[in-house]
Amino acid sequence: MVCLGNICRSPMADGLLRKKVAEAGLSVEVDSAGTSSYHIGEAPDKRMRETARKFGVSIDELRARQFVQSDFDAFDLIYAMDESNYQNMLRLARTNEDESKLKLILNEIHPGANMNVPDPYYGGDQGFVDVYNMLDEATSIILEKIR
Ligand code: 4NP
Repeated sequence: MVCLGNICRSPMADGLLRKKVAEAGLSVEVDSAGTSSYHIGEAPDKRMRETARKFGVSIDELRARQFVQSDFDAFDLIYAMDESNYQNMLRLARTNEDESKLKLILNEIHPGANMNVPDPYYGGDQGFVDVYNMLDEATSIILEKIR
């Protein structure tokens, strides 16, 4: 799960899918990263942590890291939260196989629509709830695909 800062959207997606995978008893590695270096080592944004907690998801233990080229080797599916993150990772892809791992997460809900998970960082509290709801729906679809 990849966004820009790895402190808002991708930690929420990570926490949601991690929880669903665990509840389904699957052995699937879930992780998240940001394409920027801005927040490396930081815990998720307090507002995102509070929203997650309200819905019973824990993201408190996550720490931001930057997406690296070797993530293409470590993971089978790489979900970008928006088009910009997608393009940032596409520039790091070495092969067609790397490129084929890249997905826009909201295309799971609206195939081919190339919609973005809006960055809630500079907005109000409702933005965080909206992000939670979008990612809850998308991660449920992903779970059904990988189970
Ligand atoms: P995220 O949100 O990409 O969902 O983690 C952001 C957090 C911080 C910044 C941008 C987006 N920032 O520019 O600091």
